[in-house]
Amino acid sequence: MRIVAVLTSAVLTLASLTAASQTSTPAKASQAPQPVVAQTPPMGWNSWNFFAEKVTDKDIRHAADQIVATGMRDAGYVYVNIDDTWEGQRDADGVLHSNAKFPDMKALADYVHSKGLKLGIYSGPGPKTCAGYEGSLNHEVQDAQLYAQWGIDYLKYDLCSFIPAVMMKQAPSDKAEQMRLMAAAYSKMDEALKATGRPIVYSLCQYGWDAVWEWAPTVGGNLWRTTGDITPNWDRIYDIASQQAGLEEYAGPGHWNDPDMLEVGNGKLTLAENRSHFSLWAMLAAPLLAGNNLPNMKPEIKAILTNRDVIAIDQDKLGKQGSRVYSEGEVDVWKRQLAGGAVAIAVINAGDNRYSTHPFHPSLAKLGLHGPQSGKDLWTGKSITLREGQPIELARHDVLLVRIDAPK
Ligand code: GLA
Repeated sequence: MRIVAVLTSAVLTLASLTAASQTSTPAKASQAPQPVVAQTPPMGWNSWNFFAEKVTDKDIRHAADQIVATGMRDAGYVYVNIDDTWEGQRDADGVLHSNAKFPDMKALADYVHSKGLKLGIYSGPGPKTCAGYEGSLNHEVQDAQLYAQWGIDYLKYDLCSFIPAVMMKQAPSDKAEQMRLMAAAYSKMDEALKATGRPIVYSLCQYGWDAVWEWAPTVGGNLWRTTGDITPNWDRIYDIASQQAGLEEYAGPGHWNDPDMLEVGNGKLTLAENRSHFSLWAMLAAPLLAGNNLPNMKPEIKAILTNRDVIAIDQDKLGKQGSRVYSEGEVDVWKRQLAGGAVAIAVINAGDNRYSTHPFHPSLAKLGLHGPQSGKDLWTGKSITLREGQPIELARHDVLLVRIDAPK
């Protein structure tokens, strides 16, 4: 944990230095066309938000079993992602081995694949990962080949120790050069992954530095974290969602803003908060990586994670991320354009008490809609007609999510 604390302080120091700086994009060798991945935002599960450092091979197998048993696979969840702390030591040839918690990665990949699912893994460009395990620095090609041999389908690549070990060491007072080193490190792993010939989703995790959305696709990123870590806490979830407003133009098929993995079902989130969290991520065309303990999932949490109508918003083929059209008091109104001319509207009450702006009177005109709109309330499953200025009652941190197939 000491390493984590040191790295975290390095991250914070550099974050304050680099908040709005820009960098040029590293040039890339021309490559053969690659198989297309992440045409819609990746869906699956990741071990970190619930298990953190404790995750084992058994937990991953149980998660895979549950993704099938709960119907999550059939609802679209495909990737089963091992986060940090699987890494062991390198042998004399530099080949990385998994640690005792993961006795046989190939066998684990085979198991996950046998369920009709895909396996994801985690590393970083530095000498160590965020939790202080072995990173990929100077072993990028070797590690990418190892992942491909094992049958890995997804890599989350986390900056952490690359900051002190490379960026701050090689360019102590040159911010632009630090950013160039960072982008080059992401490009290097992208090339190593592509050279394996295996389709591997590439997930950048560097907390949004240097306006990553502007250059991530040029280094092969299929998704990129836009912020620091999520926690199972409404204020943090709402804060992260708010930070996505304005990034919509950067998302599209094959390349997505990543507001971090889901906390649905974790901590002490209320049902309303879980619903709003999931609705916001769907409006944002965000990757949907569940992060809860699937063997202990309550039915009401399963109902949220497997709500097909909400998933259909997230996975809409047009791939257009929603925008926050306006806010009034503590109520936010988001709109997302969907394929075939449909739209989704989300009204979120972020306030701590229902009297802050309640009842809320929506302005359909501000949403570009004219007159009564017939749609479906995606959390009740019932038909609904939205009318200009009609009173809408929303409990604390709850959401009204409506799909309108033929907006006027
Ligand atoms: C960072 C990432 C998290 C997680 C941990 C693992 O904090 O942002 O999502 O991967 O590292 O150590």
